[in-house]
Amino acid sequence: MGVFDSGLGGLSGFRHLAQLMPNEDILYLGDTGRVPYGTRSRETIIRYACEDAGFLVNRGVKAILVACNTVSSTAMDTLRSTFSVPFFDVVTAAVRTAAASTRNGCIGVIGTEATVRSGVYGRQIRQIMPDAEVWEKACPLLVPLVENGRTRPGDRVAEIVTEEYLEELRDRGVDTLILGCTHYRMLKDVISGCMKDAVLVDSGAVGAEDMAGALLDLGTAADRSRAGRHTFYVTDSTEGFEKQASIFLETEEHLAVSRVDLN
Ligand code: DGL
Repeated sequence: MGVFDSGLGGLSGFRHLAQLMPNEDILYLGDTGRVPYGTRSRETIIRYACEDAGFLVNRGVKAILVACNTVSSTAMDTLRSTFSVPFFDVVTAAVRTAAASTRNGCIGVIGTEATVRSGVYGRQIRQIMPDAEVWEKACPLLVPLVENGRTRPGDRVAEIVTEEYLEELRDRGVDTLILGCTHYRMLKDVISGCMKDAVLVDSGAVGAEDMAGALLDLGTAADRSRAGRHTFYVTDSTEGFEKQASIFLETEEHLAVSRVDLN
């Protein structure tokens, strides 16, 4: 199976998938040479997404988790019409989870500029909850914070930036907040410090659950007698990624990370 994102963010989806499907080989691609995606045009995001997916398809994956909201909200139609493997996105499951969780019908969504610009969250939430109040907010500074490892409570820069973005959503009475960018999962503790009363929905994790459930239903899961192998690819230096990924995945094991050129 393949999982991709612009950088570290998709590791939350990867981690969940590896826990739910321990026998599967999983290839993770982080396009670290071109992160962030969320500030780019639609055309560029679609081109990057096709190159990422093409790389994984060429390595024989049987299904792909698009562990990136920016790509999930912008390029799914193109990916599905270009490649024949099944694709799973991280938006659909997050919408369903948030709709089931909210008590007051007031849902917040934070994401990249591209995700918010697409309006996909608002549209999908209103399809299942026509009366929902949806507040979407682009938080472009959060991805660079995560990619630089500035994610812990007590990190003054992370706390100030996050508070400035979230103040408005808190004042609106949002009781459920979709982390509509997979990178934000790594700032979860800082975010929940600003949104004490809200339930946080981790789009990467619920997307991974959807994918695992669908593959198990289809009977395409791997042989149960073997442990899955995990391989990581990045498009820039492996060092920073290895360090941050080990911290995030809470593993002491050496991660097999290779640098690749998508061209
Ligand atoms: N983690 C990605 C997302 O879910 C991409 C962030 C970015 O590269 O801007 O949107």
